[in-house]
Amino acid sequence: MSELPRVYATRHLPGGALGRLGERTRLDVWPEPGGPGPEVLARAAREADGLLCLLTDRVDAPLIAACPRLRAISSVSVGVDHIDLAAAGASGIPVGYTPGVLTEATADLAWALLLAAARRIPEAERWLRDGSWIPKLRWEPDLLLGRELHGATLGIIGLGAIGCAVARRARGFGMRILGWSRSLHPEASELGVEQTRLERVLAEADFVSVHVALAAETRSLLDAGALARMKPDAVLINTARGGVVDERALVEALRSGRLGGAALDVFEEEPLPTSSPLLELPNVVLAPHLGSATFETRARMADLAVENLLAGLEGRPMAHCANPEVEERR
Ligand code: GLV
Repeated sequence: MSELPRVYATRHLPGGALGRLGERTRLDVWPEPGGPGPEVLARAAREADGLLCLLTDRVDAPLIAACPRLRAISSVSVGVDHIDLAAAGASGIPVGYTPGVLTEATADLAWALLLAAARRIPEAERWLRDGSWIPKLRWEPDLLLGRELHGATLGIIGLGAIGCAVARRARGFGMRILGWSRSLHPEASELGVEQTRLERVLAEADFVSVHVALAAETRSLLDAGALARMKPDAVLINTARGGVVDERALVEALRSGRLGGAALDVFEEEPLPTSSPLLELPNVVLAPHLGSATFETRARMADLAVENLLAGLEGRPMAHCANPEVEERR
């Protein structure tokens, strides 16, 4: 009987996926929250045939080069900017990822942030908890006024599955929808999205929601110049990757009143440093990278990531491979 492949997993995962993986591999799981850290990961991956990782694990070219046995990498994430795909490809290693299963949960979170920013919910809650809701201010006509979604324009940057799922929500709220993507998406047009130039989306939208992957072409896509094009009372929502927005420029735009507000689930540096000026700004809603954080979605991501890994180890095509040219070459 041939030896079972060795797999290193950088975290315990919700649901039963790791149990199933353990039946078909010699599975070693990092036992603690936070992941193993770069040195332990490098040491463990050197012995592994398969690596099951998260978006917080840096899988770069030196790590891949130091892993002679590695035949498959699978990330429990839709984003793969933490993995050097070219280096994996050059070593003939397919990289699995988990699109699709987290679309609705991430679109829900983008929508929750948009509503929270539009109606100033965190600000209102802070005000109430602070004891500011006193009898004299029981119902003031101008207290904590927010923005209306109905009839407003939503700009969607990136019209992939999540961008389209956000468009579906916007439609239900009676919004006009403009969208920009690097390529045309007929399904977005069917959802009532008018696809147009990025400059126009930025100039006309009351709310701008970001849904592009982080890649060389999208890094700092929303820089100072792009932010300056937005309406002065517009709100920026980012549930994609922090690196798509120039955070320093965003802080500057928010501070100077050139932008109405922001609702952010992702940051250039995560966790968000406690010294971040974003923490001081009242017109910013913050969440700690929770886009896919529902019980159902995280279990589905684990299932798909394990399925991808087993396929890679067994020489079958992965359900979702981020560097499919590797599989085509086989
Ligand atoms: C979350 O950000 C993911 O990439 O899955």
